[in-house]
Amino acid sequence: MIFYKKEQQAFYLESKGVTYAFRVDGDGFLEHLYFGKSIGRDIPLPSDPAWDGTERAPSRSLNEVRLECPLYGRSDFRECMLALDFGGVRVADFRYEGHEIVPVKPTIQGMPSLRGGETLIISLRERVHNTVLKLFYTVFEDLPMLLRHAEITAGDDCKIDRAFSFSLDLPRGDYESITLVGAHMRERRIVRTPLSHGIFKADSKRGMSSAQTNPFLAVVKKNTDEERGDAYGFNLVYSGDFALVTQIEQNGELRVTGGLNDFDFSWELKKGETFATPEAVLVYSDRGLGGMSRAFHDGYRNYLIDQNRVFSARPIVINNWEATYFDFNTEKLCAIIDAARGTGIDTFVLDDGWFGVRRNDRAGLGDWTVNEDVVDLRKVIAHAHEAGMRFGLWFEPEMVNRDSNLYRAHPDWILHAEGMEPCMSRHQYVLDLTRKEVRDHIVEAVSNVLDSYPIDYVKWDMNRPLTENVSPSLGTRGKETHHRYILGLYNLFERVVKTHPNVFFEGCASGGCRFDAGILAYFPQIWTSDNTDAYARTFIQYGTSLCYPLSAMSCHVSAVPNHQCGRSESLRARGDIAHLGATGYELDLTKLSSSERQEISEQVKEYRAMSELIFRGDVYRLSDPESGLFAMEIISKDGKEAVITAMRSIYTVNEGPLRLFPKGLKDGEYEVNGVLMDKKTIEHYGLLPEFPFGDFATVTLKLKKR
Ligand code: GLA
Repeated sequence: MIFYKKEQQAFYLESKGVTYAFRVDGDGFLEHLYFGKSIGRDIPLPSDPAWDGTERAPSRSLNEVRLECPLYGRSDFRECMLALDFGGVRVADFRYEGHEIVPVKPTIQGMPSLRGGETLIISLRERVHNTVLKLFYTVFEDLPMLLRHAEITAGDDCKIDRAFSFSLDLPRGDYESITLVGAHMRERRIVRTPLSHGIFKADSKRGMSSAQTNPFLAVVKKNTDEERGDAYGFNLVYSGDFALVTQIEQNGELRVTGGLNDFDFSWELKKGETFATPEAVLVYSDRGLGGMSRAFHDGYRNYLIDQNRVFSARPIVINNWEATYFDFNTEKLCAIIDAARGTGIDTFVLDDGWFGVRRNDRAGLGDWTVNEDVVDLRKVIAHAHEAGMRFGLWFEPEMVNRDSNLYRAHPDWILHAEGMEPCMSRHQYVLDLTRKEVRDHIVEAVSNVLDSYPIDYVKWDMNRPLTENVSPSLGTRGKETHHRYILGLYNLFERVVKTHPNVFFEGCASGGCRFDAGILAYFPQIWTSDNTDAYARTFIQYGTSLCYPLSAMSCHVSAVPNHQCGRSESLRARGDIAHLGATGYELDLTKLSSSERQEISEQVKEYRAMSELIFRGDVYRLSDPESGLFAMEIISKDGKEAVITAMRSIYTVNEGPLRLFPKGLKDGEYEVNGVLMDKKTIEHYGLLPEFPFGDFATVTLKLKKR
């Protein structure tokens, strides 16, 4: 709940197990007091005379004050949350004006955000320019989580040079940051960095949240591990250029702030207009990284992802991409469908190459009409239906090949800098989503296919970063392009995804290059990585689980040797790792033996039996793949059932057994793969998984409460 202690002008924001407190100081600035484990509403405070609204300079150096909304120019020299330019003057001085507490969190215009209840809205006013700044704080009774964002309404014309979503100052301590970094096909690897004096920044300038750095940052204490110690998690509900910044300055305290990347960003705000920042999700856990992750997972499953989809059975797909790439025809596709009969796979997804003149990645992108010379789409769909399967189709609506009818008709519809040949990436250009006519065209072209054919599933792809981040149509406001592109993207999702409630949409961006909470607001699952190798996936899925629920990760079993790295793992190992998410298959089923197909049908059965755990369970990361042993436990909320999946990467001869120490069990006895053991024995003696002989072998352990 949100509690206002009037005599001290102090706010206590209480989410489950967490207190977040700040006050209005005698000058009308918001002084941060505390964020951490739940405490009383009795922080000793100086008895300042209440802020009376008189214009005056700050009576103390703001550089030494913990601030809720730091700005540059009034004696705080650290990273600011906002930077506004009033005709060349970058000094703005916002002071408290009032607040309200509303029972339901207001939505953020044009942007995705979590559903929420009780929300505190603080109003601050800049008196020289009469500009109003609103800070929003939402609390959760059932989660150690808070939401923050800001809205600026201009009293005078101004330019916003920085629009971060939150700022927080933490007391001195031996902090480390944790970020999720990587590359295409090596997404979201956990990196831990000691924080010292200076600035640490995780950001993207690629026009997408990116595989290189995810819009997630955790700040932990040096001794924090998976299940012990303080962990503060920060995640942005945003899919474009972002920055998450930490700074330790002269007094040794830690500032954490972030939001839209201010690099190459500026936004003209005319008098009376309002600008909203994306939402920031703040989590505190005193139970280490595991506690933090479980809070994010529950938060996103319960308050962000479509409730009609998030907990229901997911399509178990067979996707033709790694089976055929562009080399398919109606017969080949029908043969794959036939080979899937009886396996329990319930959805056939036709990937890239069904439209325009798209026979390779050099042509046809943007022309969303079925290429009848290549595929008889109605026949394939009918064949899938006849085999008892649903049908899905691939789109990449944001892009265009130069060799396409769309580009020939509208060469100016791409992001480009006037007079400069735009950079090509994967032989394609980025459509200018800032323009309404471009969005209208995409909505019409994609909807036309969805409305003309019985399509149950869409994979929405996006396969290159934004380079010339300029929409010439914006004239001198070119620095608004990055953010307007993402607003345009969300507008497309509203008009295509939301208007087709019967179609299941999966997100994708060259695999997991745009895996973020903004996408999850529209897509219950995202293709996690183009790297389908099971061992590589243990790292990717382990890292992704730091912030995002398993059910958000689309994971496929693919062929061996693996197409991305040449490794070969057993079908069992590939299945076990792909089961730790929204599972599926992506290989040529016609090339498998009948015993392999039989094994797949058993895997599908097994997956269905454990899918409730994947959708609703709590995750405990038992062992980091960096150690050579990957192990993840998923346990039901009532503790009655759990599954542990482990992979030993390299088999070492004559080495003692590996041991796993499950967590989160309830008192009493469990049957572990048929053997009865007490919770304490399991937790302290541990479990000794018996791995099959050889490298990259997996074991699954099933625990059932007696
Ligand atoms: C991207 C996706 C792949 C596949 C190809 C098709 O790389 O991540 O899964 O759809 O595009 O071109």
